[in-house]
Amino acid sequence: MEKTATMKQNLFINGEWVGTPGVHRIYNKYNGELFAEVSESGEREVNDAIEAADLAFKRGAFSPENRYTVLAKASTLLVQHIDDLAGTIAIEGGKPIKDALAEVKRTANTFLLAAEEAKKLKGEIIPTQAAAGMDTRFIYTVKKPVGIVGAITPFNFPLNLVAHKVAPALAAGNPVIIKPASNTAVSALKLCELLEKAGVPKGYVQCVVGSGAVVGEQLLTDPRIAHYTFTGSPAVGKHIQETIGLRKVTLELGSNSATIVHKDANIASAAAKLAKMAFAHAGQICISVQRIFVHQSVQQQFMETFLKGVSQLKVGDPLDPNTDVGPMISEKEAERIEEWVNEAKQSGATILTGGYREGSMYYPTVITDAYKGMKVVDEEVFAPVVSVSTYDTIEEAIDMVNDSKYGLQAGIYTKDLSLSFKIPYLLDVGGVIINDTCCFRTDQMPYGGVKESGIGREGPAYAMEEMLETVTVVVNLEE
Ligand code: SIN
Repeated sequence: MEKTATMKQNLFINGEWVGTPGVHRIYNKYNGELFAEVSESGEREVNDAIEAADLAFKRGAFSPENRYTVLAKASTLLVQHIDDLAGTIAIEGGKPIKDALAEVKRTANTFLLAAEEAKKLKGEIIPTQAAAGMDTRFIYTVKKPVGIVGAITPFNFPLNLVAHKVAPALAAGNPVIIKPASNTAVSALKLCELLEKAGVPKGYVQCVVGSGAVVGEQLLTDPRIAHYTFTGSPAVGKHIQETIGLRKVTLELGSNSATIVHKDANIASAAAKLAKMAFAHAGQICISVQRIFVHQSVQQQFMETFLKGVSQLKVGDPLDPNTDVGPMISEKEAERIEEWVNEAKQSGATILTGGYREGSMYYPTVITDAYKGMKVVDEEVFAPVVSVSTYDTIEEAIDMVNDSKYGLQAGIYTKDLSLSFKIPYLLDVGGVIINDTCCFRTDQMPYGGVKESGIGREGPAYAMEEMLETVTVVVNLEE
């Protein structure tokens, strides 16, 4: 994307582009240049957004057929605008352009998946003869939209994680209010422009921008919002749950995800893939590879290929098509991880490569001799830092994966078919990836975690289940 004059973006409320006196500035995460000035929402804009969504829902004029048309059109428009959107993600999010292009393609697919689901909404017939004396009743269920969905989205996938909330909400017939991460809000606002072009009915999509303390709190405390869907930190997830009472919620939270490399695996292939995925988007992915457990008999072979792969990663400007690892979202975040790595080093960990910072760039870092009790092991690093440990028995490896407050996804490389079928029952996670890293996701699959990694599942069909109410209808056939 060419450097142009600072972009101005208004908010999208009730089908209109609304300017406000407040300005939120968004910077290029690599060079610090001003990228965009976005109108900042106050109490009034948030209230207008909720009111418009409420009215739209009461009017209810968004049929499944029209939902399909709008969502499928949005998918097509996303593909048509791929260069602009990927450039925006790379600039405001610091994501390498090749990954940003992949994110836009995934977003188009997320919309298409949701479009297809919109046409499949159905209840079921309940077999009444299963209970004595019930054969004069006919029982079935219908599905209806829950109501307004509040979508609070993170910086790390500023387009596709917005899509994973907006597309299923619309496919289920719910109006949605987006509160994107403030530092990457342009991607979400550009998505709203495309949804407007695709013909989304007035009031069904709104985007408000501002801090969690002001805009977020107002959204959480307004009783007109029926369902919240959030991706972010466990601390905020817990706060959401405490604030919203009995209303519904989907929470996609953190993780210190692990991948096991078993002795029978294709070691070269596992090591090469892990070297790439441990540092994708500078480790700022909820399922990023943070802990690697390698069978001690293959450790040396693994480390040779793994460290070679890490040394080949190109660190630099996200707009350079060859860049593998870009900056972290802020210098503050890079300073945080620098502190965590230094703390691990002081407690006896060995830094094999990396361990240094230049502004918001933190260099790919591989640690050994890292143990429980160190932040780089116990907490979600959300940075380009990975620890490698060895194990003797597979039981030991499983225990190490499970010895975590998180449980999002885990990976295992093995050729053992029997182990592959057993291990999903033994790992305390929401997804088990066999012969790939824990950092694998395709948008149609159920995605979500257990323990402090969250509640509920995403993937359009699964997110829609959470955004629909089941109404049971009992017909008495004998009056
Ligand atoms: C996440 O960080 O949770 C999203 C990962 C993905 O969609 O690939």
